[in-house]
Amino acid sequence: MLLRHLLSSAFLLVAAGVEAAENKTYEYIVVGSGPGGGPIAANLARAGHSVLLLEAGDDQTQNVNVSVLANFNIAANDEKTRWDFFVNHTDNDLGYNHMVYRKPDGGFYTGLTPPAGAKQLGIWYPRTGTLGGCAMHNGAVVTLPADADWDYIAGITKDDGWLSKNMRPHFKRMERNADVAVTDTSHGFNGWLDISLGDTTWANSSADAVALATKAATLTGFSPLALEKLMNRDIDADVPDRDQTLGVFGSWSHATKSGQRSSPGYYVRETIAEGKYPLTLQPYSLVSKVLFDKKRHGKDSKPKAIGVEYHRGEYLYSADPRYDPSKKGTVERAYASKEVIIAGGAFNSPQILMLSGIGPKEELKKFKIPVLVDSPGVGQNLDDNYEGSVASLAARDFKDFTNIYFVFLKTSQSMGNRDIQMWCGQFSFEGFWPGFPDDFGPKQYECTFVHMNPRSQKGYLKLRSADPRDTPEINFKFFEKNADKDLQAMLEAIKFGRKIVEDAPEGLGPFKEIHPCTSADCSDEETTAFLKKQVYSHHATSTCAIGGDDDKMAVLDSKFRVRGVTGLRVVDASAFPRVPGAFPVIPTIVLSEKATYDVLSELK
Ligand SMILES: Cc1cc2nc3c(=O)[nH]c(=O)nc-3n(C[C@H](O)[C@H](O)[C@H](O)COP(=O)(O)OP(=O)(O)OC[C@H]3O[C@@H](n4cnc5c(N)ncnc54)[C@H](O)[C@@H]3O)c2cc1C
Ligand SMILES: *[C@@H]1O[C@H](CO)[C@@H](O)[C@H](O)[C@H]1NC(C)=O
Ligand SMILES: *[C@@H]1O[C@H](CO)[C@@H](O)[C@H](O)[C@H]1NC(C)=O
Ligand SMILES: *[C@@H]1O[C@H](CO)[C@@H](O)[C@H](O)[C@H]1NC(C)=O
Ligand SMILES: *[C@@H]1O[C@H](CO)[C@@H](O)[C@H](O)[C@H]1NC(C)=O
Repeated sequence: MLLRHLLSSAFLLVAAGVEAAENKTYEYIVVGSGPGGGPIAANLARAGHSVLLLEAGDDQTQNVNVSVLANFNIAANDEKTRWDFFVNHTDNDLGYNHMVYRKPDGGFYTGLTPPAGAKQLGIWYPRTGTLGGCAMHNGAVVTLPADADWDYIAGITKDDGWLSKNMRPHFKRMERNADVAVTDTSHGFNGWLDISLGDTTWANSSADAVALATKAATLTGFSPLALEKLMNRDIDADVPDRDQTLGVFGSWSHATKSGQRSSPGYYVRETIAEGKYPLTLQPYSLVSKVLFDKKRHGKDSKPKAIGVEYHRGEYLYSADPRYDPSKKGTVERAYASKEVIIAGGAFNSPQILMLSGIGPKEELKKFKIPVLVDSPGVGQNLDDNYEGSVASLAARDFKDFTNIYFVFLKTSQSMGNRDIQMWCGQFSFEGFWPGFPDDFGPKQYECTFVHMNPRSQKGYLKLRSADPRDTPEINFKFFEKNADKDLQAMLEAIKFGRKIVEDAPEGLGPFKEIHPCTSADCSDEETTAFLKKQVYSHHATSTCAIGGDDDKMAVLDSKFRVRGVTGLRVVDASAFPRVPGAFPVIPTIVLSEKATYDVLSELK
């Protein structure tokens, strides 16, 4: 950990980029250094294999916006790391409060009444183009998915490797937990990712915040005296009833105890800095396609991935705020003797596959991309957690500022397990737009939630052109299926959040709601209508999904291998057949650890 603070960025770039990768051959090429690509690239190098890690962005690990976790909202707005995607939630997003437009002066406008001449861009969907991927600007919230989410993958693929009991060791291997007893067999202590519990001492000190959190505890069936104990519970304990456990939890993050962000970006950096592993990181390299040996030797043989083509230069992807359309970079190639591993994230991995000729045939033909594999699932099945919130203002300022707390709920729409993960505190978070979030001042209090098992999974992503610098067209198709059930679950979450502030102590209450409703007698119908229009999301997955052999929408097999070719895998959030639990970053890192294990096992 100390190492990271001693090294300058300059040192890293010299160490990593001693020689350019152009025309060179490595055993493995990994594309993208986020939670999917970063861990497997570092792990394979640590296992002695030569690895080229190509990353479109650069190294911002020493930027304090990124390295100090408390700056996460600033980080998500920092043009040195951010990629701006614009998406549709549905076929008709009219009335979405945070619609984004480009003003004639080049700046953004967010809202319902754009100035004259403004061009509608869509709903801002934050991503990064930087070493470490979105784990460099995310909220760093750590929650493992329900065991059922892993077991589901084992079920559809008949691959027991995915059973939750077999996934736990991959989690423990990478974890360096700072807060549970070192004898605790649920956890790991010697891995590369710091996980720690944020401050909970306020649960014994701050009267205002304690009153509200205590209410949340009692509403979920606990004694009003239990708050401090609840706040110190282990959110990822390997216990049989974990996915049924409700109530208040403290805030676990992928960060050190002192609040320094930990992430795949630092892992890659440290692996290179140790100087003894064959890992080459080449930043400013936007991969445009996979190269194949198309000669088929024998009846069943498949095209083999042998390398990649990339555009080398700064800010070449049009989602980058510093993008300059006149710059294309230089087109270069690098080769892989063993495998190419794509990990560009849920938006970019399917784009790279399609640009390489792997995708829905009709989509590829539209842009004259020669079809290598007609794979109808590429860019389809786009899934995401729905998110919503209830915000209100206290009758007076809060006396002090405290950390957030989490609450697990099980609604009437649960499919067996708890289905809502909520977090509450003195903040404002109502979705994403350039410059988010709002700040309603020292009276604000919000409960925000993630719906863990959204039932509609009809979203898609399509190419707009064959230019690798273009962003795809993205439509989440929210609420296409079983909308009533998901809306009912979220309505219950909102009502729970309202109850927390309902009879706040004299002086702090009564609270006045800012949204979903501003009227005191808000009906369920009004609340639900608000949710249907205003829910948001930022956990995209499943656009190159793993699935069974008989599923034509399954882009990957259970070992991440792209169906129809050899030597090519996709290892990132796009591989999940469904969005995993409430927070995907740890599941994606665990998935990357599993992929490492699968790749190395096949060599034996
Ligand atoms: C603002 C925000 C907050 C979040 N908060 C949380 C949270 O608190 N907890 C949680 O669990 N999850 C959170 N998430 C989600 C989580 O961070 C993502 O699910 C996770 O990062 C996905 O990892 P990935 O490897 O699939 O993709 P990414 O993290 O997107 O990484 C992809 C990488 O590939 C690179 N890349 C893309 N295309 C190319 C190309 N063509 N050539 C070369 N490189 C390329 C990108 O630069 C990037 O580094 C948050 C996400 C955002 C955006
Ligand atoms: C890589 O190969 C291409 C095509 O043969 C060639 O034009 C280019 O100069 C080579 N680059 C390097 C650095 O060798
Ligand atoms: C942090 O981000 C802000 C924008 O959100 C930017 O103005 C500032 O320069 C960044 N800080 C650093 C150290 O890069
Ligand atoms: C939203 O959908 C429309 C067509 O329905 C499309 O023209 C537009 O490009 C989409 N926007 C985004 C940001 O994908
Ligand atoms: C909580 O507060 C009580 C009463 O002031 C005190 O006795 C106790 O030590 C405190 N506990 C912690 C963990 O600070």
